[in-house]
Amino acid sequence: MKILYVTSEAVPFCKTGGLADVAGSLPPALAEQGAEVAVILPLYARVRDRFGSQMKFECYDYVDLAWRHSYCGLFSMEKDGVTWYFLDNEQYFNRGTLYGQADDGERFAFFSRAVVRMLDRLKFWPEVVHCNDWQSALVPIYLKDDGVREDRFRSIKTVVTIHNVEYQGRYNPYVLGELFGLDAGWVKDGTMLMDGDVNLLKGAVLCADAVNAVSPTYANELKQPYFAHRMEGIMRQCSDKLSGVLNGIDMKLYDPRSDERILKNFSAEDMTGKDACKAELQRMVGLREEPHTPIVAMVSRLVSHKGLDLICEVLHDMMELPMQFVVLGTGDQRYEEFFHWAAQQYPGRMVVRLDYNEDLSMAIYAGADLFLMPSKSEPCGLSQMIAMRYGTLPIVRETGGLKDTVQPHDDYNGVGNGFSFTNYSSGDMLHVIREAVYLYKDYPDLFGNLRQRAMACDFSWARSAREYLRIYATITGQTWPIHTDTRRAAETPEEESAPVVETAPIEEAVSVEDPAPVEETAPAEEPAPVVEAVPAEEAAPIKEPAPAGETAPVEEAVPVEEAAPAEESAPVEEAAPAGGKPAKKARKTASKAAKAEKKTSAKKGTAGKKKSAE
Ligand code: GLC
Repeated sequence: MKILYVTSEAVPFCKTGGLADVAGSLPPALAEQGAEVAVILPLYARVRDRFGSQMKFECYDYVDLAWRHSYCGLFSMEKDGVTWYFLDNEQYFNRGTLYGQADDGERFAFFSRAVVRMLDRLKFWPEVVHCNDWQSALVPIYLKDDGVREDRFRSIKTVVTIHNVEYQGRYNPYVLGELFGLDAGWVKDGTMLMDGDVNLLKGAVLCADAVNAVSPTYANELKQPYFAHRMEGIMRQCSDKLSGVLNGIDMKLYDPRSDERILKNFSAEDMTGKDACKAELQRMVGLREEPHTPIVAMVSRLVSHKGLDLICEVLHDMMELPMQFVVLGTGDQRYEEFFHWAAQQYPGRMVVRLDYNEDLSMAIYAGADLFLMPSKSEPCGLSQMIAMRYGTLPIVRETGGLKDTVQPHDDYNGVGNGFSFTNYSSGDMLHVIREAVYLYKDYPDLFGNLRQRAMACDFSWARSAREYLRIYATITGQTWPIHTDTRRAAETPEEESAPVVETAPIEEAVSVEDPAPVEETAPAEEPAPVVEAVPAEEAAPIKEPAPAGETAPVEEAVPVEEAAPAEESAPVEEAAPAGGKPAKKARKTASKAAKAEKKTSAKKGTAGKKKSAE
């Protein structure tokens, strides 16, 4: 399988957010499973400065975009089994920052055009081009546009991953020809038009063969107006090719057994090192050195969608609990001021560092007891997974990836790996924080068991890579994976004890079904992939999106979609109790029931609705 991964940032070369973490880790994980992978990204000034000496100059060419005829250099580097390509154009990329410039539209149109232009200069002709967010959203559109004239472009299948739907690449329709070199038909037929703007992400979603969000719950949320930033109609329209694939974390980099950034190493079997890390954290930041007081921590950008308003509302009630509170992050002035002021009210019990500090963040992951993420929305989120790895139990609001990675504790059945609340309500958050604090203080054994389960979770990239390979297989019609049996067998014990992330993602969201019979590729002992629950007749191969010209006038479709009854958005999965094996069973049953129900009446979700009303 030959995959070209297109991204506007990737660790270790350049980073502004989570996309860079994904782009830095997923391609090597795909390569490890036997795929041939190349990544392509712009050669920004900072990348050239730091990595230029390790790169090889491959060639150059000229890229035609509207009336512009621009130079494009191609550099490459081999790393982690992947070829990393860098596109060079000083006018566009020799700048101090990655984004936020007046000509971003032109810059990333050039990037996307250049990716397609340079395809036959790469080490392979890709079977799949995998794009990310609005910056590379024009790639599937250009491939369709060129595909009208040249067969070879039609041979390429495309995937678009949405990391955050808030950023869509919206422009005045008048620039379509001038900036993007596209014919007016792309706007006239509605493919790239939304709310009167040219919308690159919308165009990509319609043109791509598969679309995915970075968690199953977020994939579902994208069909709801509250989360979708006007894209809900399109996402519903494309739900047959929409899925959710949870991101992973680098399990080697974040390993309390070997991490050199923390004071003392520890493991689920021997937690004494964590006590030392806690004492060290208290000393470092100036909290009272109380070993039996739970430390609640936040490491976060201080912006609204992280749910900080909830904390502002009930901070004083929180601080009446027998806990300490440490906050690390920078962001909006109003939150910075609030936290700065609040910390002064609770000397020795609450500490705020308005800073971006990698070392301190590791000391917090290792030393704290509870990790608070009350986000309003969170496409995937990374911190909660890192925290769990270090035995710091997450307290999250059930949204996006937080819902998919954190399973509320159920001591009676001995399941769960953290604490969660459903409604965006400060009262509910406070209730759960109280529950967590008193579980720590009054039931240390139960708290310890919960820690063990959190630390055993499998958040590896290998798991996500397998899901992406399944999507690639679906759209290319290939059978995959074929090389992973040994690796999977080796992982099985850990997977057994980590039910949460291996659990089948939300049934509705995962509609990119593998046409290959699952039993053929999956060894019997493996957790059943989602598709198993799908009756054969429903496992139809993904639909070919209609060629751009044939796309239904989407603008018209939007209001209709929006009028869809609310219960459709209630995830069927909510009807299933959270849990390990019992929950898996329940979910399977629920999803089977849901499938059956879908057959008879397409838009009912009463079970989910009832549950969410509870
Ligand atoms: C975005 C999302 C974040 C996600 C990351 C990587 O930054 O906001 O939740 O983890 O992308 O996909």
